[in-house]
Amino acid sequence: MINFDYSKAEDFIKKQELDAEYISAKKAADDLQKGTGKGSDFIGWRDLPINYDKKEVERIKKEAKNIREKSQVLVVVGIGGSYLGTRMVIEALSGYFCKKELEVIYAGNSLSSDYLNDLLDYLKGKEFSVNIISKSGTTTEPAIAFRLIKKLMEEKYGKDEASKRIYVTTDKNKGALRELAIENGYETFVVPDDVGGRYSVLTAVGLFPIACAGFDIEKLMSGAAFARKNYDEAVLNYAAVRNVLYKKGNVIELFVNYEPKLSMLLEWLKQLFGESEGKEGKGIFPVGLTYTTDLHSMGQYVQEGRRMFFETGISIENSNRKLEIPKQKDDSDGLDYLEGRDLHEINKIAAKATAIAHIEGMVPNLEIQIDRLDEENLGELIYFFEKTCAVSGYINDINPFNQPGVESYKRNMFELLGKPGFEKEGN
Ligand code: PA5
Repeated sequence: MINFDYSKAEDFIKKQELDAEYISAKKAADDLQKGTGKGSDFIGWRDLPINYDKKEVERIKKEAKNIREKSQVLVVVGIGGSYLGTRMVIEALSGYFCKKELEVIYAGNSLSSDYLNDLLDYLKGKEFSVNIISKSGTTTEPAIAFRLIKKLMEEKYGKDEASKRIYVTTDKNKGALRELAIENGYETFVVPDDVGGRYSVLTAVGLFPIACAGFDIEKLMSGAAFARKNYDEAVLNYAAVRNVLYKKGNVIELFVNYEPKLSMLLEWLKQLFGESEGKEGKGIFPVGLTYTTDLHSMGQYVQEGRRMFFETGISIENSNRKLEIPKQKDDSDGLDYLEGRDLHEINKIAAKATAIAHIEGMVPNLEIQIDRLDEENLGELIYFFEKTCAVSGYINDINPFNQPGVESYKRNMFELLGKPGFEKEGN
């Protein structure tokens, strides 16, 4: 269950401002619902939780079982929306130090030669499979990583066995990856036409690697379906509140959490909101901070630096494991006052104390609370944030489903690298 609480921001907002923004949010949600808003050819994610391809999910589970039986490592190759959601879910649900039946590692999300060299060395002595994920099938970072990993795989297993260990998630009909998959007989999964990268974690993009990691993808979908049905009001309130705060000069949203496993959720949120909202000179700039760790680095700025942000805490009511502060013979460490108390309760008190301090420091505070960290709650969070992001984009009259700005650096890079078709004029 998600609970969205903005009572701690009410002192920063006038009721009439919120009422007006709520009306805009409602209109935005109607446009989203009717498909009359900008970029409406990319709103397939709205109904995914109740309308997904059950046959594909069965195939995903079957192939995930195959991989778990014959591999020690799965390399997930992808970047941006073809990577962040997967990693966010797997890290949030995994234990910190446990030995995993199948280790999931990532490639194609940077151009670091040290990273890829180390990864190739790491794979040499292991049984491994690969899932290359790219909707366009042409993104440079995953394409380079895949070429190198495929080479290693074919050297190790031979072309035939390698082709049984390569799984491709891409567009249904077009793109270089689709052609490669057909040519080599790779198993494939589809990224639906009407779902953009950062809204795609609940398609095969996320579901396949998440199932390989051993998590229950149907529970993830049922959590999202629950959010779709029950959180319209919370979405409208959140979208309205964050936009009132934005218009009052709070141009940065600090997404904060108190559970290090959620640091990839912060990365996913940065992409979802940054790539969706940051256009036409507008948009809230998303930042992710993991407390209490970052209270000892960024805490000073948040408390006393330039005022330009609001804080959205993502909190977990119940930890998965309890840990009591033990009794000790003497009080040499001065911690006797905490004896017998549960560490998660102490973490929650730290969150409460931080919110009070930051409100005193004029940082409006919002809270999104879930019961616990499991598949259902994560599914709820994914849908809740996706819908809030789309509604917020429409409030600001931008298309939250495109990313035209990402092309500029690519054009320069291709020109500098001499990619055919991108030659500098005059050459
Ligand atoms: O959200 C998006 O659309 C982007 O982040 C893409 O997912 C990212 O650029 C990767 O694209 P592709 O899946 O085509 O390789």
